[in-house]
Amino acid sequence: MKLESYQQIKDDRLTHRGYDYERIAQEYQTPLYIFDEPSFIERVKGYRDQFQSEVFETEILYASKALLTKEIARLVARLDIGQDVVSAGEIYAGQAGGIDAKRMYFHGNNKTDQELLYAIKNGVGTIVLDNQSEAHRLNHLIQQSNEGHIQKVLLRVNPGIEASTHEYILTATNDSKFGENIHDSEIFMVISEIAALSHLNLVGFHSHIGSQIFEADSFLKASESLIDFAQKVMEQTALKITELNFGGGFGVYYTEEDQPFDVIDYLPRFVKQIEKAIQEAKLPIEKVAIEPGRSLVNASGSTLYRVGDLKQTLSGKHYLFVDGGMTDNIRPALYQAKYEAALVNKITDSAKASYTIAGKACESGDKIIESIMLPEATPGDLLLVNGTGAYNFTMASNYNYIPRPAMIHVTEETIKLTVKRDTLDDLVRNQL
Ligand SMILES: Cc1ncc(COP(=O)(O)O)c(C=O)c1O
Repeated sequence: MKLESYQQIKDDRLTHRGYDYERIAQEYQTPLYIFDEPSFIERVKGYRDQFQSEVFETEILYASKALLTKEIARLVARLDIGQDVVSAGEIYAGQAGGIDAKRMYFHGNNKTDQELLYAIKNGVGTIVLDNQSEAHRLNHLIQQSNEGHIQKVLLRVNPGIEASTHEYILTATNDSKFGENIHDSEIFMVISEIAALSHLNLVGFHSHIGSQIFEADSFLKASESLIDFAQKVMEQTALKITELNFGGGFGVYYTEEDQPFDVIDYLPRFVKQIEKAIQEAKLPIEKVAIEPGRSLVNASGSTLYRVGDLKQTLSGKHYLFVDGGMTDNIRPALYQAKYEAALVNKITDSAKASYTIAGKACESGDKIIESIMLPEATPGDLLLVNGTGAYNFTMASNYNYIPRPAMIHVTEETIKLTVKRDTLDDLVRNQL
């Protein structure tokens, strides 16, 4: 397993900033989400400081679907970046951690009336319309509830860019459920209609081409395509476009198969390319935003499991069972995501056997890793899976009435519990 900068080997055991994983497991139990705060803070500051322009205002919007807790929201607020939200729940959790609603961008392809009203009531700064029908619905809702209000909106458009990533996290193909397609013959009419709605102030466009994208070129193509489209809109309609939002999707390392580019290094070049394209297109752009999620949090998160039973099948497969699984990490079952792992108490032992790491849920597909070489494992070992910061906690479930794990943050000075483990009572709390 590739170690992170905060993981060191001490006396033949893996530690997190000097904390022995066995001590962590004894104090907080397993399975456990572990989040390294300093590496997250450093990454956010790197993105924020490198995504700067003298031509337009820039903003990093943290895509909080990747990982959102009150403590993460507190960090986001403190680090002075905005938040990409997709539900009333994410607005609520963001505000609970102190994020200013004005800095929220509310996305989603089927926001309910209640959610839209909730966003307006709470002062969400920007609503990113998914489609024409939503625009009319939002305008009508404001008319009925808050006559004086004019809501700043962007329209999500789909540039039809095919980036190489898993089908489920690809969002901008012509068949995607997200956004209005820029190649639709009626698109300019649709935009003119939205721009004419009296309670909406349409200032620009958003596009997000997918997740876990490894070619910097795909972002460049998508930005050029959006800028080119914005220029056409200005020629064909009366709309003045002042804001563009290029979404997130920067790829991260999970296994040796992944070769992500250095985003912090790339951002200044990306800004220069956007500046040039905007100047050539003579667009009056005042603000440009990006929405990274996974690339900000993933490498700061890991999951610690206790090894339970081991089993060899008739055909010779070696199963290593852990005390969590698809309920805390659905990604392998959902889209064949791959991970690396290590036995932290045997970190210097040489790998001897190939194991299939499986969880405890009643599903054959409940596997974290299909095949990994590890030192000989015994019940009671501790297995650490790295790169679980994004889309693990937020996609967790209580399938089989398995309590969701706790989360701790490790800082330079201390460890703090940020999410309590579900109790059995929590599992039936809402049941009458
Ligand atoms: C609109 C939008 N913005 C940002 C993101 C964040 O993507 P990632 O976590 O890959 O950076 C997503 C992910 O689905 C998205 O749909």
